Amino acid sequence: AWLRQKLLVLGSLAVGSLLYLVARVGSLDRLQPICPIEGRFGARSQAEFPLRALQFKRGLLHEFRKGNASKEQVRLHDLVQQLPKAIIIGVRKGGTRALLEMLNLHPAVVKASQEIHFFDNDENYAKGIDWYRKKMPFSYPQQITIEKSPAYFITEEVPERIYKMNSSIKLLVIVREPTTRAISDYTQVLEGKERKNKTYYKFEKLAIDPNTCEVNTKYKAVRTSIYTKHLERWLKYFPIEQFHIVDGDRLITEPLPELQLVEKFLNLPPRISQYNLYFNATRGFYCLRFNIIFNKCLAGSKGRIHPEVDPSVITKLRKFFHPFNQKFYQITGRTLNWP
Ligand code: A3P
Repeated sequence: AWLRQKLLVLGSLAVGSLLYLVARVGSLDRLQPICPIEGRFGARSQAEFPLRALQFKRGLLHEFRKGNASKEQVRLHDLVQQLPKAIIIGVRKGGTRALLEMLNLHPAVVKASQEIHFFDNDENYAKGIDWYRKKMPFSYPQQITIEKSPAYFITEEVPERIYKMNSSIKLLVIVREPTTRAISDYTQVLEGKERKNKTYYKFEKLAIDPNTCEVNTKYKAVRTSIYTKHLERWLKYFPIEQFHIVDGDRLITEPLPELQLVEKFLNLPPRISQYNLYFNATRGFYCLRFNIIFNKCLAGSKGRIHPEVDPSVITKLRKFFHPFNQKFYQITGRTLNWP
């Protein structure tokens, strides 16, 4: 009788806790929206939704991202794999990873961790849009998915392909001062060569044509930095209002105001704060703080030390990029502090 009484007490305690938990989760789902996500994301996003509840559930999403989700759990939690509503299309070495990771601090944003290379890779593109969607992370229907593949910006076929998927998609382009970006690009390739014990040319030799002593426009790192040329191809498909230019140099030194501009462009309520970003003196960069427990810096491959480059080559490159930069400012309406 004593044991039965104990079991009864324990049983009712367990049922009580369960009911409390169900009621609590239910009430979290019903939290009043803090701020509506307005406008341009279509009917669903026009509905108001509780960001705090999304933040609460993020841990759960993280588990699912690790591949621990069963079909039943996906259904139970109303999770979906959504096509991106915004894409970071480039520019390579502009700070694309930092931008994606920092936007992911926002409770309404879910990032595709890997570069998917759907639109720039013919083999992937041939697999169809459903293949692409299945590469996307699980998210709640009210969240927006963002992916980044910097090769999109410079690949000929991509604008048309993205247009065919979603003609009103939002496009983020993060740029850095073109000469610095070109050197960063070179540094990445150089590191790859060194890893394979291969030798490589000096930057000066690649960037300057030895016959003419002019800037070598056949060198890919130079071509990629002529932002206006690439952007003009995109403008055949998308109006300029669908692009937002992020200043990659300022994202390094002062990330918050840049992120706030992106939040505005994406019609997201401002949720990324100074709390989420802290300067790590050892890394020499801002790192990310998701909450009291979880923070992270970007991988060591971000923020490499650049080789020293002959100042006369830098001057030549800066002179070369100058007119393209002016055009870029004119088209985008964003003037940057480039020489
Ligand atoms: P460097 O390695 O030349 O310094 P991408 O992600 O597009 O490849 O861009 C890499 C660049 O992101 C790095 O270039 C680095 O300067 C920049 N970056 C911006 N914010 C950063 C951050 N918080 N941590 C590390 N790198 C950052």
